[in-house]
Amino acid sequence: MSIRIIGTGSYTPDRILRNSDLEKMVDTTDEWITSRTGIKERHIADKDTPTSELAKQAALRAIEMAGIQPEQLDLISIATATPDTIFPSTACVLQRKIGAVNAACYDLVAACTGLIYSLEVAYSLLKAFPRKYRYALVLGADKLSSIVNWEDRSTCVLFGDGASAVVLYNNMENDQPDFVVESKIGAAGIYADLLSMPAGGSAKPASHETVDQHLHCIQMSGKELFKLAVAGLVDSCKEVLTVSGISAEEIAWVIPHQANMRIISAAAQRLDIPVERVYVNIEKYGNTSAASIGICLDELCRGGKLKKDDCVLITAFGGGLTWGAMLIRW
Ligand code: ACO
Repeated sequence: MSIRIIGTGSYTPDRILRNSDLEKMVDTTDEWITSRTGIKERHIADKDTPTSELAKQAALRAIEMAGIQPEQLDLISIATATPDTIFPSTACVLQRKIGAVNAACYDLVAACTGLIYSLEVAYSLLKAFPRKYRYALVLGADKLSSIVNWEDRSTCVLFGDGASAVVLYNNMENDQPDFVVESKIGAAGIYADLLSMPAGGSAKPASHETVDQHLHCIQMSGKELFKLAVAGLVDSCKEVLTVSGISAEEIAWVIPHQANMRIISAAAQRLDIPVERVYVNIEKYGNTSAASIGICLDELCRGGKLKKDDCVLITAFGGGLTWGAMLIRW
């Protein structure tokens, strides 16, 4: 039995919002955004395009690369903090859109750590129930533009929209090692208030007041998050490397969640990983939340930059707080 990644896909909407555009919307400058975050532009979906539509485009690309039909999928696991609706799940909506009629479907919330959580859960299901689950479609997809307060300069410059997908296959006739070498996911609910969308759930149902107070938008304590983010990335990566016995020199690529270039640089430095082996595309997309790591993985894969058996370390942190690292064998 061998569980491997057999397809990747990603999608970002065509419309590009540049720092120069944001200069006209809020009191900010290209210089501030670039020097504080590394972001130059981000892709923004149309108002009528929901997260499931972004996910569909990424899913179709991953399925095509995998060389399978949507009916062969046994599972759809989507990480998203911006579902089309609270219910039905975005996974069920996606199932209908791509015709994956045989797949069990669920959404999972771990904010920017979403893809790592989604991979961990889907991989565990394939491993535990090999006869039930052979093919899984695992996605991270977010339309953060739908929950950004476009008048708040401290958050609106950071985020973009996108989706990414991978197809996992459990090959029962093969005894190669699985794609997961080691992984670690964690959470600290005590920091839940540092990054949240306070209203719209059962705690604060939507009302005129919640809309007036922008409580359906992202609220973030950036400075506090910054410190916790570096620690979360570094500690989870170190644990995964120690437990697996793989050294930093053996890693072909590190793919960190693309939240802030300064966070990425600080983490890489503390992990002693040379910058040439840290994949960064934040300048083009900003922070696409659950989609970010999978977009990087897809770019590396389609760019021919991954060789068989390369070790790739993916790592993220996000609202919750949540964090995680997964060491992948390509
Ligand atoms: N343009 C110009 N000035 C700005 C802007 C802006 N867009 N935003 C904030 N400022 C101002 C502030 O008002 C402040 O001014 P003051 O000193 O007069 O009060 C000054 O710039 C410095 O603000 P800080 O918040 O201290 O700036 P900092 O260097 O910490 O950078 C940032 C802010 C980029 C948000 C950083 O803290 C960060 O990246 N934190 C991590 C956040 C993160 O990654 N969140 C996503 C988590 S992932 C998920 O789950 C969605």
